[in-house]
Amino acid sequence: MHAAFRSIGAYVPTKILTNADFEAMVDTTDEWIFKRTGIKERHIAADDETTSDMGVKAAELAIERSGLSKNDIDMIVCATISPDYFCMPSTATIIATKLGLEKVTAFDLSAACTGFVYALSVARAFIESGMKKNVLIVGSEKLSAITDYTDRGTCILFGDGAGAAVISATTDKSEAIIDIHTGSDGAYADLLMSPNGGSGSIHDDPTGSACVMKMKGNETFKVAVRTLTNDVVAILEENNITSSAIQHFVPHQANYRIIKAVGDALNLKDEQVVITVEKYGNTSGASIPMAINDIYESGRLQKGELMLLDAFGGGLTWGSALVPFAGKNI
Ligand code: ACO
Repeated sequence: MHAAFRSIGAYVPTKILTNADFEAMVDTTDEWIFKRTGIKERHIAADDETTSDMGVKAAELAIERSGLSKNDIDMIVCATISPDYFCMPSTATIIATKLGLEKVTAFDLSAACTGFVYALSVARAFIESGMKKNVLIVGSEKLSAITDYTDRGTCILFGDGAGAAVISATTDKSEAIIDIHTGSDGAYADLLMSPNGGSGSIHDDPTGSACVMKMKGNETFKVAVRTLTNDVVAILEENNITSSAIQHFVPHQANYRIIKAVGDALNLKDEQVVITVEKYGNTSGASIPMAINDIYESGRLQKGELMLLDAFGGGLTWGSALVPFAGKNI
């Protein structure tokens, strides 16, 4: 049995924060933000809009586009670092209930910006082992809830949104996910973390404004470029695939300069590289499925085309995947 990437959906909240809005909030400029990150604007969820609310909207689209009925879904994995509730229940179980699914296996996965690639690897493993047939993977983030809007080094980067995909069992090898890499190195944990609120809290306020993100941006940037470049080169070599065979390089959308450096290392042409960071900012676990949805809805992503995904995030974690799109054309 193989695992096929059957469909994609996404949801973007309506409220927009532009770089000009940040000029009024912290000591920054539109020019600095765009030049250093490639970001012009990001979407922000409404006060009463939760990570599960956004995940459900993306999931409903993905399920509809898969041609399956909701009841065919036998597992939900939600990749998020901004869950509805930090300890329990999981956001995946809330998504299941909001979708009207009873007794489905549902759990969250914590791998920061690499969460969607990790979730894809989990879905693939459950399907290839025969344990599940149709797995809904959701990347949903309300990062605005864990962002310190007085810290100019991080607040300008992050946005909210959700993406979802249905991964299904198939006997057709041409549809199969080809390979997935996942890795981590906890020695770099302090580069990007939410230091408050957990059992390892290094703050004397374990509950108040818990979980805001702190990042050593410049050090993270250097490790990201080095790690991602090595990883995408390795996954292509191991599978005897040349970069010219990739129709869509869909990287995690953290910073245009990171995407450009990795794309250049693979000699990719501009039309092979998917860029959404300009309009969504960094939406962590949601960024890759949101980007796939963008090329799907614009008609750029066609059945049978090969995607190369790559991601890097807190942990540190990283991952890459070679994925043929096995869904219906829009
Ligand atoms: N506006 C103006 N100046 C700023 C801002 C701002 N918003 N933020 C920082 N600066 C200043 C700094 O204070 C510093 O000033 P100094 O030279 O006087 O000390 C100067 O700009 C340069 O700061 P750097 O941090 O060196 O800037 P850099 O070019 O590295 O860009 C950035 C910062 C955008 C954060 C970049 O390092 C980056 O993208 N890092 C990687 C992020 C990433 O990939 N994270 C992993 C995924 S996220 C996740 O997992 C949740």
